[in-house]
Amino acid sequence: MTTAGPIYVLNGPNLNLLGTREPDIYGRDTFDDVVSLCRTSAARFDRSVDVRQSNHEGVLVDWVQEAREHASGLVLNPAAYTHTSVALRDALAMLDVPVVEVHISNVHAREPFRAHSYVSPVATGVIAGLGVTGYALAIDYLCRTAR
Ligand code: DQA
Repeated sequence: MTTAGPIYVLNGPNLNLLGTREPDIYGRDTFDDVVSLCRTSAARFDRSVDVRQSNHEGVLVDWVQEAREHASGLVLNPAAYTHTSVALRDALAMLDVPVVEVHISNVHAREPFRAHSYVSPVATGVIAGLGVTGYALAIDYLCRTAR
């Protein structure tokens, strides 16, 4: 029986197109594959995930605010909003639960504008460049530490 709140796994713009979107960079796994991976990873610890994706900044801010009330931890791939969103950063700064920022690609090995993240200073930790496995590792960490 799961007693801890779900781990929220929130995903930003264009991640709905995983699998077909620049597969040389993001791989061939689809967003549905990521959802399955997250569920399987959490189930090992008898925990649950709530995996969502939006192309809209305000929707992501709403979900981070919701996580304050309902989540035991947060995995966040803010996608392009990583590099632009003060609003998302401010919402995250109000969260008391641990936050793992995940990037499928190694943002530090790409264009210079991807090296800066508004999110990293308010995240507990950051995983980048390990493909979709980064989601599983982030969930593993949160299941071991966040109640
Ligand atoms: C990304 C990296 C971002 O720079 C990019 O805008 C994305 C995906 C990643 O998962 O590697 O959309 O967050």
